[in-house]
Amino acid sequence: AIPSACDFTVFGGTGDLALRKLLPALYLRDLEGQLPADTRIVGVSRAELDDDGYRAEVRAALTTHVAPEDLTDPAVDRLLARLHHLTLDAHEPDEWHRLHALLKDRPDHETAARVFYLAVAPSLFGAICDNLEAIGAVNDAARVVLEKPIGHDVASARAVNDAVGRVFAESQIFRIDHYLGKESVQNLLVTRFANTFLEPMWNSHWVDHVQITVAEELGVGERGGYYDHAGALRDMVQNHLLQLLCLVAMEPPSHIGRETVRDEKLKVLQALKPMTAEGVDHDTVRGRYTAGLVDGVAVPSYADDLGPEGAPGSRTETFVALRTEVQNWRWAGVPFYLRTGKRMDRRASEIVVVFKPPPHAMFPHSEGTTEPNRLHIHIQPDEGMRLHLTAKEPGPGGIRLRPVSLDLSYATTFEQRSPDAYERLLMDVIKGNPTLFMRRDEVEAAWTWVQPILTRWATSPDRPKRYPAGTSGPTAAATLLERDGRSWQESD
Ligand code: BG6
Repeated sequence: AIPSACDFTVFGGTGDLALRKLLPALYLRDLEGQLPADTRIVGVSRAELDDDGYRAEVRAALTTHVAPEDLTDPAVDRLLARLHHLTLDAHEPDEWHRLHALLKDRPDHETAARVFYLAVAPSLFGAICDNLEAIGAVNDAARVVLEKPIGHDVASARAVNDAVGRVFAESQIFRIDHYLGKESVQNLLVTRFANTFLEPMWNSHWVDHVQITVAEELGVGERGGYYDHAGALRDMVQNHLLQLLCLVAMEPPSHIGRETVRDEKLKVLQALKPMTAEGVDHDTVRGRYTAGLVDGVAVPSYADDLGPEGAPGSRTETFVALRTEVQNWRWAGVPFYLRTGKRMDRRASEIVVVFKPPPHAMFPHSEGTTEPNRLHIHIQPDEGMRLHLTAKEPGPGGIRLRPVSLDLSYATTFEQRSPDAYERLLMDVIKGNPTLFMRRDEVEAAWTWVQPILTRWATSPDRPKRYPAGTSGPTAAATLLERDGRSWQESD
């Protein structure tokens, strides 16, 4: 249920995430009348800004990041009237009492939902939580939202979780993976479990392999300082790609509940084939873009994108491809190929389930071509699904086979706008529903699986393979599948 009152505090309130995603999402939910009527939004940052100065910044951000047809003066004014700004430094606890005074300045302050959104570097998570506790701001209605990355390896993830866990109970901690808020990602669960025809085939008897691709055209942009310490494995694979893999591979939970889905995802993470040092060398590829053309526009290399911020000798990868397996009864022996990269030839997030060929060739003398059945799930852009089949080409002669497809496009099937992932997830935080957030054990299991890759890459003499911007990654990524007699399914 939606509470009647809420104080939504954003640490990093003037940062990119807040202005580009969080405040537009709160605005759009407010536009639909879904925010609790009595909601205040408190931006916290180190900027010397008063409430009006912050309102002006947020007004400009809404104008840039909300579609013009969704902007109305009364709705913008209503959101701006909810805003406050506090200038605080995580390391100067004395100033924090101003935050508590503000939160207490309402008659229902003990029951109003109290959200603390930490849109800041994870190294500040512990200090912020300690300060919140010290000023007495953590009550039963409080919840904390953590942006990824949660740490940069297993040990630091545990340390972050310990630090936050000393102040907040696990049920109060919401670890965001915004991929889980995407409409098409939630639809994956519905497709699998609200239908009957796929599930009997969703296993090693019928599935040849699974491919998960998250390709971006963007480079590292302004985020080089963060990205060069992270790289694609930490930035994308440890969270978004493994979460997608979990949703494809998990067993049906008894119902969609706050723990049931997460229990099943955890089992998948725990069943991933552990990587050994040799496995890393054999089954992973890391790449880094050089200068090239993206959509006909010349773009610089990763090193040039970083500019002076780049660490000399950095070996950060901007592309990862890997092969893994889910070692359980359902998936035994079925490869899962994952890849993600920046500055690739297209922007596309998609999952392809490739089925095995028919057990017996019924049309051995037919002409034409056949391809394996595939279910192509387009997460973005152009959300939808395409099932690839073989059909008989019309004609009086012999049988001539031809690949055809059944298509479902969200945009043409549904008229509603698909909400942004953050709209859904922020409302879940306000309502206190953690189903689409990562539990501590999931985050740590994902890091545990990724850790041997991090360790091996840190010590291996090999460097990331180069790929020109605007291509599908290094050739070694293609070889990873070719040696298994398979190939990447590009969007069609
Ligand atoms: C973020 C990563 O989590 O996801 C970014 O830090 C990446 O590097 C982004 O660009 C991709 O998200 P989306 O929703 O644009 O696919």
